[in-house]
Amino acid sequence: MLTLAIETSCDETAIALVESKSVIQHKILINLIASQIKIHQPFGGVVPSLAAREHTKNIPILLKKILKEYPYIPKKIDAIAYTDKPGLEIALILGRHASKTLSYKWGVPAHPINHLHGHLFASFANINFPGIVNNCEQTLKKIFPGIGLVVSGGHTQLYLIKNFKTLILLGETLDDAIGEAFDKVAKMMGLQYPGGMLVEKLAKKGKKGKFNFPSPMIAKNNYNFSYSGLKTSVLYTIKKLPKLSKQTKADISLAFQNAAFKVIEQKTEKALKEFSAKTLIIGGGVSVNNNLRERADKLTKKLGINLLIPLKNLCTDNAAMIGIAHNIANQ
Ligand code: KG4
Ligand code: ZN
Repeated sequence: MLTLAIETSCDETAIALVESKSVIQHKILINLIASQIKIHQPFGGVVPSLAAREHTKNIPILLKKILKEYPYIPKKIDAIAYTDKPGLEIALILGRHASKTLSYKWGVPAHPINHLHGHLFASFANINFPGIVNNCEQTLKKIFPGIGLVVSGGHTQLYLIKNFKTLILLGETLDDAIGEAFDKVAKMMGLQYPGGMLVEKLAKKGKKGKFNFPSPMIAKNNYNFSYSGLKTSVLYTIKKLPKLSKQTKADISLAFQNAAFKVIEQKTEKALKEFSAKTLIIGGGVSVNNNLRERADKLTKKLGINLLIPLKNLCTDNAAMIGIAHNIANQ
C-alpha cells in the first residue's frame, strides 16, 4: 500500500510518502517537514493564525517538491492520509482541505487519521527486538497486548493497546501536558520556545539534589497525570532565587526532568504489570529525550518485555507517522 500523508495539526507542515508491505513493514520513501518554529518563537508559543498562514504557504511548496521526486504519485498511490484530530482546528482544516482536493483530482480516497495513533505507531517504522520474525501474525502475538504512552506538547496519555483496532485510554493529564510543562519551565528560565530540548541539554550538566520538586499524582491509584503543580513549584522556586546562573538553571532542569519522568515511569510500570503487557510502545515529541529513552529501556529490560520507541526524527510531529498509522489501519 502506497500512501501520501499530510500532517498539519500544529506548527509543522509535513508531507510524506509511505509504502507498506504489511502492518509491520513500512518504508518511508520521503518525509518532508517545513518547520514554523522560528515564526512562533518570538511569541513564546504557537500563534494559530500564523500557523494557518504558514500551512497555506507551505503545503503547495512541499507538494511540488515531493511530486518532482516522485512524479508517479498521482497514478500509483492507493490513498491520501491526513491528520484529522486532535490539533489546532484552523491548521487541521488546511491539511484536510488539501487532501480532499487532491483526492478529487487524482481519484483516490482521502482518509482521516488520528494524530495520536500516528505518534503511537511511529515506532512501527523500525520494529526490531529480539526474536522478531518476518511472519506478521507471530510478530503481532509478541507485541500485543501493549501499553501505549503518548508524551507530547499537547498530550500525556497511557493506553492499553489490545490490537491495532482496540486502544483503551487508561488515563491522561488532567491539566498541562508533559511537553507543555517542559516548554513553560524553559520559558521561566528565559529559554526559547520550544524549550524541551534545551531543558534536556541543561539537565545533563545539573547537579543532583540541589532542588527537589514534587511528582504530582504519583501516589494516586490511577493512570492520570498532572503537571501544573510541578510547573508552579518550579516557578515559586525561581522567584525566590536572587539570581539564575547557568549552573542553577542546569540544577533546576535536572530536578524538574526527574520529577516529571518519575511519575511517568511509575504509572507506566504499574500499567505494564496490571495488563501483563508484552510491549511498551512510546511516541510523541518528548520521547526524543535521552533520559526518558534510557528509563524506558531500563524498565522494559527489568520486566523482560519489548520496547517500541520511534527513531528520533519520528518522535516529533511528522507525516510519515500518519502514513504508517493509515497503512496499519487499512491493510
Ligand atoms: O509531538 P510534538 O512534536 O507535538 C505535539 O503533538 O504536541 O511534541 C512537541 C513537544 C514540545 O513540547 C517540545 O518541547 C517537546 O516535545 N520536546 C522535548 C524534547 N524535544 C522536544 N521534551 C523534552 N525533551 C526533549 N529533548
Ligand atoms: Zn504531535
